[in-house]
Amino acid sequence: MHHLPLDHTWFVTGITGFLGSYLTAELLWRTDGRARILALVRPSKRASACERVIEALEPLVGHQGALDALQSIDIVSGDVTKPQLGLTDREYWHVAERASIIIHAAASISFDIELADARHINVEGTRRILDLARHAAELGHAPRMVYVSTAYVSGASGGVIQAKDLCVERPFTNAYERSKAEAETLVRSHMSDLSLTVVRPSIVIGDSVTGYPKEFSTLYYAFRIIHHGLLPYSPEGHIDCVPVDYVTQGILAAACDPRAIGRTFHLTAGSDRQLRWEQFAPAVIERVARRTGKQLKHEVVSAEDYLSRFEDRHQLSSRRRFVVEQFRSLYAPYLMQQTKHFQDDETRILLAGIRPPEPHEMIDLVAGYCMETRWGSDPRGHSAWGEVLPSRRMCA
Ligand SMILES: NC(=O)c1ccc[n+]([C@@H]2O[C@H](COP(=O)([O-])OP(=O)(O)OC[C@H]3O[C@@H](n4cnc5c(N)ncnc54)[C@H](OP(=O)(O)O)[C@@H]3O)[C@@H](O)[C@H]2O)c1
Repeated sequence: MHHLPLDHTWFVTGITGFLGSYLTAELLWRTDGRARILALVRPSKRASACERVIEALEPLVGHQGALDALQSIDIVSGDVTKPQLGLTDREYWHVAERASIIIHAAASISFDIELADARHINVEGTRRILDLARHAAELGHAPRMVYVSTAYVSGASGGVIQAKDLCVERPFTNAYERSKAEAETLVRSHMSDLSLTVVRPSIVIGDSVTGYPKEFSTLYYAFRIIHHGLLPYSPEGHIDCVPVDYVTQGILAAACDPRAIGRTFHLTAGSDRQLRWEQFAPAVIERVARRTGKQLKHEVVSAEDYLSRFEDRHQLSSRRRFVVEQFRSLYAPYLMQQTKHFQDDETRILLAGIRPPEPHEMIDLVAGYCMETRWGSDPRGHSAWGEVLPSRRMCA
């Protein structure tokens, strides 16, 4: 585990999100609440920026823990799409003067966003954060910056994907992927003049012990599809997923280790720990049977057949219709792609041997959490967070 220096001020975007909230909790835990955090947060119609931070941290550290965390977090109300991040001159230059580490995690991660909107948030937002880093450097103290990209900047390409590979002239599965590839290209263009590191997580799933995922998207939809009894089959299909605490450890290591400057790291399961779709579905069925005694009936069909079986969508219940629509937009294209093998040798060196869990452990994590909480409608308490912290439990 990397030592986190206490004399830094961390400027973090996206802390109301899945990754950002975990990162904040981990950062405060690892520094015993002594890290100073400046957080850029959008207020919503119903809640102030401060209330939104409390709401984001509560499931991880409890209500009192979230209130305590505010002692270490200075919240600035802003928006990455706005000039000067939507901050007043005073706020902006205050951030530029104080930030010694910048973690840019804010983004739109919607798979069905229009390209113009994705670029507005993901590319232009990143440009404004890079401007901030440059302004801070001009004040005489160049901050470190970690940009949170995605392993899927590789678009529809398959085969071995090196962390140094990046090309926007290739087919992408959706506008999200393209906008993230463009943003990463922008970040790389500043690598010679700023202290930058890019990290590329794959699919981020729940915490490796409590299982808490915040949202039931991505892999959790696949689990629902299996529950519906028809398995879209893909002999090639692989799923590369990593628990959120593995990703936050990767981000913190990238921020603090001088060897990470100017480099890009995959935060992925890697070839030997990817889930094969062929294994995933039967393993989920077996675990459901073991936990509930219920034997899910299933029929293996191609991804195209799967969709055509549900063509008359008006006949479906609204919940099932929603899942089919999500599968159509999120999964069908990925299951039909050639397998990707994300190369993560350099990450293993950076993380000194810390690895994501084995595939069967990840299946247990996802299946267990979904069943025990009935997809989050009956959430387990997460007070265990403070006792069994992620960095302690990851095995080398
Ligand atoms: N989740 C994954 O599986 C995954 C995988 C690979 C890479 N990533 C990358 O990891 C990062 C974090 O993802 P996540 O899963 O934590 O996403 P998330 O839960 O949707 O959180 C996104 C965060 O970005 C903030 N944000 C969006 N637009 C903003 C704006 N205009 N100004 C300021 N803040 C804004 C959101 O604030 P609001 O609460 O105000 O909306 C939220 O805090 C992203 O860069 C994503 O591309 C995620």
